[in-house]
Amino acid sequence: MTAKQYKQQLLEALQASYLKKPKGILRFPGSTNIVFGEGNPDADLLLIGEAPGKHEDEQGQPFVGRSGMLLNKVLEIANLCRTDVYITNIVKSRPPNNRKPTPQEIEHSKPLLIDQINIIRPKLICTLGSSSLQGLLGRSVQITKERGKIIKFNGIKLLPTYHPAYILRNQKELNTLAQDIITASKLIKDV
Ligand code: URA
Repeated sequence: MTAKQYKQQLLEALQASYLKKPKGILRFPGSTNIVFGEGNPDADLLLIGEAPGKHEDEQGQPFVGRSGMLLNKVLEIANLCRTDVYITNIVKSRPPNNRKPTPQEIEHSKPLLIDQINIIRPKLICTLGSSSLQGLLGRSVQITKERGKIIKFNGIKLLPTYHPAYILRNQKELNTLAQDIITASKLIKDV
């Protein structure tokens, strides 16, 4: 069995175990699917967003709406594709009306994400936006101050960058996001 197959089995077993735990996964009223994540379970690069939106909730996949299209575009600019990387969110179900998850909701969702990280053990984590960075670090952050600065999380390099939804509202920052993902693609080759 390859490392990829082995990690895929571990991720599936992890998901099943969380689905069995009564309060293992935060499920918002009105949501349809739990969106665990997708991609290469043995990826060098792990991308972590905030929470599924409407399209993600309908399809059960992360980043398949407008933000996802933009994410695909920047991955392509960096010569990466979705099947190379693993993509997930800190919160696995869609908050009502796409509101931001609260710090308590993020804290509730963190153990599953940590377990996913421990299985994938990527060379680099890229958090997209403030929610996932805040959740992992356990403190409030200003993404404009933290983005682009490499830090360590549980012995893994972490490069915070902007959320694609922010770029959809602030097109002038598209190049910053693209440059961060290019940096990420170089860092995974270096390690
Ligand atoms: N925004 C996120 O943070 N995650 C998704 O999966 C989609 C949009």
